[in-house]
Amino acid sequence: MKEVDYQNERVDAINETTAMAHETTLLNPRFYTTNFKEMDELNVESVRKDWDELISEMKSDPNRTHFKKTEDWDKIDFKSLNPELRKEFIDFLVSSLTAEFSGCVLYKEMKRRGTNEEICELFSYMSRDEARHAGFINDALREAGIGVNLGFLTRKKKIYNKKRGN
Ligand SMILES: [Fe+2]
Repeated sequence: MKEVDYQNERVDAINETTAMAHETTLLNPRFYTTNFKEMDELNVESVRKDWDELISEMKSDPNRTHFKKTEDWDKIDFKSLNPELRKEFIDFLVSSLTAEFSGCVLYKEMKRRGTNEEICELFSYMSRDEARHAGFINDALREAGIGVNLGFLTRKKKIYNKKRGN
């Protein structure tokens, strides 16, 4: 697998699909500016009962077995798809993967930088879930022989924050 040197915005040798993920991100960056101060000041007391139920459900993680490979998984043959459909399908998977992983990076950062324990707990579960979604799609791509290195997204987010003085 080849690597992309994002920091210099120079592509030495591109893994085609990672490049596709770059393109998706560059064209449509899914990074948002977060008002951490506002988030830290959130008070959930007015919805305490619902909040506790929600957090308790997220903590119990009822979706942990949701993403399962069934035998249908083995019947998928990417190579047999007609080239146009194959490209479109892979494009869809890559943009989905990029979106899921961007969510994971964002929520993880909110958890890391926040000081409001309750909000941080919520974001930690949300980050876990997005990572799971991204992992499932990445598994599908890997089985199709397509490797996507999303490390650049984490780096890009750091650069983005730095530029915004965050
Ligand atoms: Fe998701």
